[in-house]
Amino acid sequence: MSVALQPAKTLQPPPTEHVPQPYDGPSKAEALALRTNYLMPGLITYYRNPLMLVEGHMQYVWDETGKQYLDAFAGIVSVSVGHCHPEIVARVSEQVGRLQHTTTIYIHPAIGRFAQKLASHMPAASGLSASYFTNSGSEANELAVLLAREHTGHADVVSLRNGYHGGTQGTMALTAHSTWKFKSSPAANVKHATPGYCYRCPFGLTYPSCDVKCARDLEPLIRHETAGEIACFIGEPIQGVGGTVTPPPEYFGIVYEIVRRYGGLCIADEVQTGFGRTGTAFWGFENWGVTPDMVTLAKGIGNGAPLGACVARRDVAGALTRRLHFNTFGGNPVSITQGLATLEIIERDGIQENARVVGGHLKSRLEVLQDRHALIGEVRGMGLMLGVELVRDRQSKEPATAETVEVLELAKDRGLLLGKGGLFGNTLRIKPPMCVTKDDADFLADCLDEVLTIVGGSESKPRP
Ligand SMILES: Cc1ncc(COP(=O)(O)O)c(C=O)c1O
Repeated sequence: MSVALQPAKTLQPPPTEHVPQPYDGPSKAEALALRTNYLMPGLITYYRNPLMLVEGHMQYVWDETGKQYLDAFAGIVSVSVGHCHPEIVARVSEQVGRLQHTTTIYIHPAIGRFAQKLASHMPAASGLSASYFTNSGSEANELAVLLAREHTGHADVVSLRNGYHGGTQGTMALTAHSTWKFKSSPAANVKHATPGYCYRCPFGLTYPSCDVKCARDLEPLIRHETAGEIACFIGEPIQGVGGTVTPPPEYFGIVYEIVRRYGGLCIADEVQTGFGRTGTAFWGFENWGVTPDMVTLAKGIGNGAPLGACVARRDVAGALTRRLHFNTFGGNPVSITQGLATLEIIERDGIQENARVVGGHLKSRLEVLQDRHALIGEVRGMGLMLGVELVRDRQSKEPATAETVEVLELAKDRGLLLGKGGLFGNTLRIKPPMCVTKDDADFLADCLDEVLTIVGGSESKPRP
């Protein structure tokens, strides 16, 4: 499908006092040529004419021409409190000038403080107090699964269909999207259970008369497809890459009970949902009334720094003492300083509350758009972790994949960067830095309204 690009009209991101520096680096054509010739071809770009970004400030980024964009995807859900947040820049610059690299074979004052702060945000009496820092979410998840297997002595792991847990061999096996798996990669001892995806219920049922069959189906899966005792279950409280798939409230309670009855540990992959993004809770799992045995973190933990962590119960963490385990850059002073500064800003500046208030306002505006645009099949998510699934037909729910690409293109022309996800690439992912304002949310909704009118081919359609 191809829609003629309309020139951007009056819509543009809200004004900011930040004045971008004049850009005098290599041209976009040069940068693109270097990338094409010297980077691996598997790296993807969004947009037909790839975007080059050269500066960021809080919720906004700028390209080499000085055009401003609202970054409603926060990098990829990795910027929590704003691009180049001035306080973080100052603290990290000071640290870079003082000591850039040590490994965990030496003591550094910041690492313990950061781990203590993370532990203080875990539920009381959860025992979630032992952190291991990594450079990415994939590494954090690898470590969590290793710990679960060592602690329980079991090999089988259960993750969820439509989930994403990383791009390393082990986490690719946990991931359950054909898009993100390679044919040659083995996936030993991993089974995939059904997610709570009511809009596309895998059983064709309707909530609540379904009795949450998607969650209960885990028990026969364990009995039939594993050795009957499992090492762990890993799941995202809201599936991010899978398209902001938000389960029914009872889903995780049922799943965690079954997992524990079959000897497994529960791992919450909070790489996207953590640090207040869902607005109503600091961690995504808290929205579902469950307490995991391990929590994995990345992306927003570092506000853009390469940082991840696995936080475990101390008794579980003890399994790592059986052999040597090491991560050269995990816990380095620069990333830790960035993580600590980010967390202190989240606490001090009411970032979670902003996610709740601005996210709530944005979601209600998106729901109004759902009444006007037949392309919108479902609006879902919590706080500033929102998804808009686009369909060609509301009855058949045929994924509007090509239309989603066009929506992203036209939004970009108007200064709005969105993400997309889901197995069919037909869900808009809206997860901006959590410092966004109501004006940003209104700009986003106005922009989507205009773009959906162009792509959907009609001004306004009542909901059938
Ligand atoms: C939920 C979730 N877990 C893990 C990962 C992997 O993180 P990383 O890309 O830092 O390895 C991602 C990345 O998108 C993610 O969304």
